[in-house]
Amino acid sequence: MSNFTFLRLPRAMRQAYPCAYHPEQITDKEYLALVDPLLAEPGIQKMNDFIQHSDITLLMHVRAVSYMTYTFCKTLGWDGEAAARAGILHDYVTYDWHVPDPSHRFHGFRHPGFAVKNSREITELSALEENMIQRHMWPLTVVPPKYKEAWALTLVDKVLATGETLRKYQHQ
Ligand SMILES: [Fe+2]
Ligand SMILES: [Fe+2]
Repeated sequence: MSNFTFLRLPRAMRQAYPCAYHPEQITDKEYLALVDPLLAEPGIQKMNDFIQHSDITLLMHVRAVSYMTYTFCKTLGWDGEAAARAGILHDYVTYDWHVPDPSHRFHGFRHPGFAVKNSREITELSALEENMIQRHMWPLTVVPPKYKEAWALTLVDKVLATGETLRKYQHQ
């Protein structure tokens, strides 16, 4: 990576964003080949049954995080494969966190661990992918990410989650 590669980031992210919540418009074959096998899993599809923020389902959220983290990492010459896959898997739970239930009390703290466990049932995780999923809620969960791609995921997740949460005020 040259010293100035990061200057390409704002433009790349701006260009990718219109597809973030319209993944049917994504044409990048390399990206689609990485996420399609995961999206074919019934458990992953089930995430479409739950709202994450405002009117955005959990599946819409993870697809947006996946594509934007992939774009971020690819632009910097980092690991795009791990970014695409961990993006889809980072919130992989099959319950509605808005519905109180002892099995997922303290959702904010515990769901990264649930997501790692659920992900292992459908795919093998690299050490990098596992760290990206396990540490994405930093600083709520105290141990920080260990890899640069994991920092990218936690940043993209926070920015997109904030935008999703604010949507409900835009429609009022
Ligand atoms: Fe999360
Ligand atoms: Fe998330």
